[in-house]
Amino acid sequence: MPSHTHARLPAESAMRSVPIPVGLPTHWYNFLPDLPAPLPPVRDEGTPSAAEIALQVRPRALLDQDRPTERRVPIPEAVADLLRRIGRPTPLHRARALEAELGTRAHIYLKREDVLPTGSFKLNSAVVQAYYAAQEGRTTLVTETGAGQWGMSVALAASLAGLDSEIFMVRCSLDQKPYRRHYMELLGATVRASPSPDTSFGRELLARSPGHPGSLGTAISDAIGHALDLGPKAAYLSGSGVPHVYLHQTLLGLEVQAQLAALDEPIGVPGRGDHLIACSGGGSNLCGLVGPFLGSLGDGSRDLRLLAAESSAAPRLTAGRYRYGRSDLAGLTPEVLGYSMGPDFVPPPVHTAGLRNHHSSAAVSLLRHEGLLDAVAVEEKRALEAGRLVLRTEGLLFAPETTHALAAAVEVAVRADETAADPVIVVLASGSGLLDLQSYATVLSGGAR
Ligand SMILES: Cc1ncc(COP(=O)(O)O)c(C=O)c1O
Repeated sequence: MPSHTHARLPAESAMRSVPIPVGLPTHWYNFLPDLPAPLPPVRDEGTPSAAEIALQVRPRALLDQDRPTERRVPIPEAVADLLRRIGRPTPLHRARALEAELGTRAHIYLKREDVLPTGSFKLNSAVVQAYYAAQEGRTTLVTETGAGQWGMSVALAASLAGLDSEIFMVRCSLDQKPYRRHYMELLGATVRASPSPDTSFGRELLARSPGHPGSLGTAISDAIGHALDLGPKAAYLSGSGVPHVYLHQTLLGLEVQAQLAALDEPIGVPGRGDHLIACSGGGSNLCGLVGPFLGSLGDGSRDLRLLAAESSAAPRLTAGRYRYGRSDLAGLTPEVLGYSMGPDFVPPPVHTAGLRNHHSSAAVSLLRHEGLLDAVAVEEKRALEAGRLVLRTEGLLFAPETTHALAAAVEVAVRADETAADPVIVVLASGSGLLDLQSYATVLSGGAR
């Protein structure tokens, strides 16, 4: 990566950064039929089965959205109102100063999810899930959170819908990011560290391993167990990894398509090396971005590379095995076929909690297995250096998860100089880093965690 030289903004940059006037999509896009092969069947042999548990804890409308019957799923008007209220559509920002700094021919676009009120794209699904939970008479939303971005979104969505929320946050992230807890509590949420002494799963784990740092696997187990204990008034919500969340997030790719069209910037031009890039934890910002493009890749009308940036602390897509496994540790979710570090893998407590999953979702893994998705594992320091470069050039500070995608994009953009074409690179800028400054400071100054 080149050293920073205080690039000046090119003259027309300000003009190109004006939000592009596209409307909110009227539908979500069901990309499951566009996958290169059907999703492999899940294994679900527990007693009770994960499907039976899901029927108890998940809103029915969301389970139906896991298998939509239509390609274009209409967004109810009340949900569209909510989505406009939280600031959708979000801007597509041409990062011209970054391009100038890198000296690249590539056109780099950032889809700016950091501008949403909770600072991340997670709110796109949280408001929808809260809406359906309220419609079905549930009064308490229960969930897990890694970095706290999903938890903040659920806490806000619950408050907007007049519901309570209870959130299990991975213990090491709670220690690293106390401000996310303050935000959730300000909204009235109950926040607990995971593993939690308040659930039977958490108590057992803490007895065996008292200093356990927690992981998404422990937090999912705590949250589902707690939702079961609360009974029918509770709804358990997922922030990623399941098809209905991906469906809600297809707004990302649909808006990008409309915005690039409004800019007269074609994407997927054959032979040019155009890219869609997103970080990948549970896969929701990645699938939301690429899902609406899969049809045009399948029929050959676009030539587009899809790139997932994962954390080198949990390198499932680049170093994991394709095998059956669960996203939780207590056996409350089905086993899905995906790239995995194995059930006993506890990712080191990096600052990028949203990418600390031990098992990849079925959809992301299928794309990878069928050769449609490239992947790169990015080391935390390199990611945050890319984040610092984007702050210094574009004036935008992104979340540690996002910076993994930024580092991948910088590499692609620098490589583009060796070719004759000017590729278009769209990066899903999944969240703001304003509450992650401690992580930037700690990692970039080499201090203690
Ligand atoms: C800002 C941000 N980006 C990305 C992710 C990764 O999630 P997913 O892979 O589901 O998009 C997270 C997860 O917490 C996040 O907080």
